[in-house]
Formats: sequence, C-alpha cells, structure tokens
Amino acid sequence: MGGDLFLRACRGEPVERVPVWIMRQAGRYLPEYRALRARHDFLTLCKTPELAAEVTLQPVRRLGVDAAIVFADILLPLEAMGAELRFLAGGGPHFPAPVRRREDLARLRRPDVGASLGYVFDALRRVRAELDGRVPVIGFGGTPWTLAAYLVEGGGSKQFEHLLGWSYADPAGLGELLDRIAEVSADYLAGQLAAGAQAIQLFDTWGGLLDRARWDALARPPLERVIARLRRDHPGAPLIYYIHGGAHLLPALAGLPVDVLSVDWRLPLTEVRRIVGPGKALQGNLDPAALLAPIPEIERRTEALLAEGAGGSHVANLGHGILKETPPEHAAAFVRAVKERSAAAARR
Ligand code: CP3
Repeated sequence: MGGDLFLRACRGEPVERVPVWIMRQAGRYLPEYRALRARHDFLTLCKTPELAAEVTLQPVRRLGVDAAIVFADILLPLEAMGAELRFLAGGGPHFPAPVRRREDLARLRRPDVGASLGYVFDALRRVRAELDGRVPVIGFGGTPWTLAAYLVEGGGSKQFEHLLGWSYADPAGLGELLDRIAEVSADYLAGQLAAGAQAIQLFDTWGGLLDRARWDALARPPLERVIARLRRDHPGAPLIYYIHGGAHLLPALAGLPVDVLSVDWRLPLTEVRRIVGPGKALQGNLDPAALLAPIPEIERRTEALLAEGAGGSHVANLGHGILKETPPEHAAAFVRAVKERSAAAARR
C-alpha cells in the first residue's frame, strides 16, 4: 500500500501522510555519489545503466524518500539530436556548436530514441526490478523551451541574449527548433514510460524568463504537444511540471493539463493554491538553502511547509535542486520530518 503513496498524491487521491522526495537527490552532496564520480565522468555515469541504476538507488537507501528519479540529464536528448555535449570540469554543460539561426537546424536530426537513448531505458528497467515496488520511479526531461535555452546559448547563461534575441527577431525560426525538440522529447519521454517510469517530471527551469503572453505564445504550444502525446500513449501516468522563477505564470499554468505543479520557494503554497485552484496537486517548495540551517530549524521550516501544503494534495520537495554543500544528514532530517509530522497531523 505504501509503495504507491507518491503516485496517489500526484493523482489527488487520499493519502495517509505527505510523500517526499528531493530534486537532484542523487548527486554531489552524497559521499557515495562522489566516490563513483571519482572513477567515472558524469556522462559515463549516465550512459552505463548499471552505474546509473546504482546512483538512482543511493538516495532511496540513505534518505528513505518516497520516489526514485532515474539518474540522467535533461540535455541528453539534444546530444541524441546531433548536438555535441560536454560537461566542463566545473560541472556546467557546454554545447561547442550552439544552434542560433534557422540554417543551424539542418544540423539536427530526429533520432531513433531506442538506439541513441536506450541506456536511460535500460537504467529504468534495472531500477524498477531492483526497487520491486517499494517506491515508484520518476522519469524526466526538460521542456522544449528550457532545452532550447541551453542549446541556443551553448550552455548556462546570465542574460540568455542569444535565445531571447532570436525569440524577438525570428519567433517562427525559434518555433521550428522548439517543435523539433518537442518531437524528440515526446518520443524520449514516452520511451521512459514504456521502460517502466511511473510518472514524468518536466523541468521548465527557464520558463520564467518569459512574460505570460510570450510564455503562452512560445513555450506553451510545443510543451502541450509533448503532454498530449504522453496522455495519449500513457494515460495513467502522472505528469509533473516544474517551474523556476515563474510565479507570474501561475494564472496560465492553472490551465496546463498536468497533474502536479512543482514550484520554487518564492510564494507560499497557500498562495500558489489560491491562484491555480484545487485541480492540481502541488509539489515543493522548501528553499534548498534552508537545508544548510541547523536541524531544529529545518524541522521547524518543514512543519511550516506541511501546514502550507495542507489545503490540498501535496508532495513535499525542495523548490529547486538540492545544493551540493548540503550535509546528507540535513537532507535526511527533512525527509524524516515530513514523514513523522505529516503522519501525526493525519492522525489528529
Ligand atoms: O534528480 C536527480 O537526482 C536525477 C538526476 C538529474 C540530474 N540533472 C543529474 C545531474 C536531474 C533531474 C537533472 C535535471 C537537470 N539537468 C536540469 C533541471 C533541473 C534544474 O536544476 O533546474 C538542468 C537545468 C540540467 C542541466 C545541467 N546538468 C546543469 C545546468 C548541470 C551543471 C550544474 C550542476 O548542478 O552541476 C548539470 C550537471 C548534473 N546533472 C550533475 C548531476 C548529478 C552534476 C554532474 C557532476 O557530477 O559533476
């Protein structure tokens, strides 16, 4: 019964306590991850199903989270489309040949995702077998807009001048890139569900760069095509949409056909819920930096988070990925506090 707690909360069904997992829960704050990373580079970890499955399970063992998330990266499908991808020594992604104008689109292909990204599907199959129903496994990808942000800039960016410049100068050309990415993303995410992922999270880390009218015009149509394809092929799988810095988009996001809205920490969940209405479960939204505080403060803030989430379905999480400086026992304290305090609240 407990094994599907997270999935039930995503669907808005009754739960005996609030489920919890942590964005980027597999990663550099964990010594067992750093030990493997010392021997293999990041892309090798992603592309070796045995290693990716092992890293996926590390936080499940150590923290007791209610969901696993497959170890991979949102940028992998762009590499499969033909864009060379490197991860620099400092950790940041880099595309040496960014796509910045219509002519560049000729360099991209629609790959057979089974052939080029099958390592992610293999990792998912392994994780499902090893978890044996104890907790569900989440698949994920970036939204077309957020993937385009990296591919056009050539990596991370402060101003996103290439992306935003292109969006004003030739929106139809950028729209074509977004469509191409959406097509491949739909294949890739449907493939993750076919391989055993039980929910999908779509990361829109850079959706908040756009005002509401431009998000509706540019980012939404390709995203809705990805969602429609997943709904058609896998109607039972919960879909989670994550937005960073997107409080101004909430009125538009209320109508996005996903089950769960995952938000950053800048608005309390009570206010998010007031704007988006009762139709969606909310995921989040503790400030990742709060896990740097002493454990009693983490417990106090977690209790406050649970109170804010209590007006509807809630999946406890951070508002963005866990910081690599986080002591693992602080992450464990957050997970434990959610479990104990939300179970106690449910009994009252
Ligand atoms: O949540 C998990 O544990 C699953 C694994 C996961 C990774 N990346 C592994 C990773 C997930 C869900 C992601 C998503 C991702 N990747 C996003 C969206 C979420 C967000 O943070 O907004 C984005 C924008 C990326 C692209 C990316 N990958 C960046 C910008 C970086 C460098 C910055 C950083 O945090 O290191 C990466 C590298 C990356 N992806 C690492 C991990 C564990 C670190 C690589 C290393 O070990 O050196």
